[in-house]
Amino acid sequence: MYAKDELEKWNEQFVKAYPQEVLRFFMEMFGNKIALSSSLSIEDQVLTDMMVKIDKSSRIFTLDTGRLFPETYQLIDKTNMQYGIRIGIYFPDNEQVEKMVNTDGVNLFYDSIENRKRCCGIRKIEPLRRAFTSLDAWICGLRREQSVTRKEMRMVEWDENNGLLKINPLINWTEEQTWEYIKANQVPYNKLHDKGFPSIGCEPCTRAVKPGEDIRAGRWWWEDPDHKECGLHR
Ligand code: ADX
Ligand code: SF4
Repeated sequence: MYAKDELEKWNEQFVKAYPQEVLRFFMEMFGNKIALSSSLSIEDQVLTDMMVKIDKSSRIFTLDTGRLFPETYQLIDKTNMQYGIRIGIYFPDNEQVEKMVNTDGVNLFYDSIENRKRCCGIRKIEPLRRAFTSLDAWICGLRREQSVTRKEMRMVEWDENNGLLKINPLINWTEEQTWEYIKANQVPYNKLHDKGFPSIGCEPCTRAVKPGEDIRAGRWWWEDPDHKECGLHR
């Protein structure tokens, strides 16, 4: 647990800092007890590039829900090869998945918000909790402008639900800045971004958006935007 003052101090210290400075500071502070939780989004790919350039042995993991797009699996492989790293994979508990899909069907998430949250709980939250057992801090690719639910987020936060520090080095970045970094550094990215998918999660819960639509409009498109979080970020 960190005191509010300490978090405030860090947030002030890094208000204008480059994300690399933030990463270096906390990576030195936590050593192998800090990791990037990557969904292979453009933000997480930027952070992967930055972290590997700071320290090749940085910890990076992804939650493989079992329902990701083929393009996302291709990107995991490509990223591993390009950087000479091995992104850690956390997979859901088979008994919990079997019980859920045998009771409520393989596509239960379309039936109710409750079912959708249960699926996210089993396929993402439980594996994430397992990842947390060996961590004191986690790094995420959240940006404030991504959605109404993310407007109040800070660069450094105490994650009350999980009892560890949460660091969002790109919190102040725009989508444009993120793409500029990707292009300038030849960072590999998901090919679906070129096909109208600005934000990518699981295949059955993500669709392409039309020009001008909100960047997260294709995620759980059948739900109300004010509540569209899977539980990873509340
Ligand atoms: S989500 O909650 O709506 O799925 P989003 O796709 O915007 O989240 O990603 C926000 C951040 O959550 C990512 O930058 C990453 O840190 C984390 N995250 C989301 N999905 C995953 C995943 N499958 N594996 C690991 N981290 C993830
Ligand atoms: Fe299940 Fe959809 Fe959540 Fe993926 S995003 S874990 S498929 S409900």
